[in-house]
Amino acid sequence: MKILVTGGLGFIGSHTVVELQNEGFEVVVVDNLSNSSIDVLDGIEAIRGKRPIFEEFDLRDKPKVQDFFQKHADIAGVIHFAASKAVGESVAEPLLYYENNLGVLVYILQELKKKGGSNFIFSSSCTVYGQADQMPITEAAPVKPAESPYGNTKQVGEEIIRDTCKVNPGLKAIALRYFNPIGAHPSGKIGELPIGVPQNLVPFITQTGVGLREQLSVFGDDYPTEDGTCIRDYIHVVDLAKAHVAALQRLLEDRNESNYEVFNLGTGKGSSVLEVIQSFERVSGERLNYKIVGRRPGDVIQAYADTQKANKVLGWKAKSSLDDAMKSAWEWEKIVRSSN
Ligand SMILES: NC(=O)c1ccc[n+]([C@@H]2O[C@H](COP(=O)([O-])OP(=O)(O)OC[C@H]3O[C@@H](n4cnc5c(N)ncnc54)[C@H](O)[C@@H]3O)[C@@H](O)[C@H]2O)c1
Repeated sequence: MKILVTGGLGFIGSHTVVELQNEGFEVVVVDNLSNSSIDVLDGIEAIRGKRPIFEEFDLRDKPKVQDFFQKHADIAGVIHFAASKAVGESVAEPLLYYENNLGVLVYILQELKKKGGSNFIFSSSCTVYGQADQMPITEAAPVKPAESPYGNTKQVGEEIIRDTCKVNPGLKAIALRYFNPIGAHPSGKIGELPIGVPQNLVPFITQTGVGLREQLSVFGDDYPTEDGTCIRDYIHVVDLAKAHVAALQRLLEDRNESNYEVFNLGTGKGSSVLEVIQSFERVSGERLNYKIVGRRPGDVIQAYADTQKANKVLGWKAKSSLDDAMKSAWEWEKIVRSSN
């Protein structure tokens, strides 16, 4: 069965391609390399011995999207990762984010509608919950006003899919709300490759660990948490990738209860920034150079998932611990640096 993975050379997409191959799917990747490298194809091939079909183009090019779906009329499902994801950049360039994250989504859904339906998995985010009132966060928690244009694209993206599914019964979709993906493939062949200064905590930590960055700034230690730093739910990217295969199989086997469903993907465990730093120090044997600075605007105090719905309904559970994920991120960082 042929599955389109948009953004399949990116961080989460590349790990998902491997898990799809593990389950025997034929994968077609579309990526414009705006935030990834062509070398990722070699990494994927090195793991499974199979190179996915690759089409390099920008999904904002509507005629190309139309041509693609004509050429690959046998596509049975789409996992849509391609998007821009830097929160700060989205504040400075909102139209770029609305075009890339929502325009492209509309083009793809239009093609799936033409087919009379299909199976569609969307990369959403726990950012839709903002600062949730209760921990852990269930899927029933209210969606809060978005803090950034990026966050808004995930909220509106979900609404676009929900409204489209309502009037297109042949279209079946699942929105997956990721908590904080980290780590790398245990083979050391693929991992996170941030371009420029990392926006996320773990790549910043590992880059500081190898000496590429001088010091990590911890934004605030006066939050109402046990150690005063913010709490997040860090999930190993391989666990996250496997959840996509479980969600896709649910749709392909018609096990879905409605044609639009939402699932949280996390571990269910919250870890503070200081606990993440301790995890790094434990698995690497290195001391991390960090300093506490003031709070960063827009940071929520804590966010961790209630994963019961995904556990029961998708039959999926995150298996790796924070230390496992951190170790894989550290090994990957050392591999990347030694090859540069
Ligand atoms: N990484 C996270 O922390 C996180 C958390 C929640 C949600 N998400 C969402 O998950 C998805 C994947 O995230 P990621 O971390 O793998 O990001 P990533 O940047 O590593 O991967 C995205 C890929 O999409 C490609 N792409 C972007 N725009 C494109 C376009 N117009 N045409 C073709 N290709 C395009 C990029 O080149 C890149 O390879 C995104 O939708 C992101 O918003 C990520």
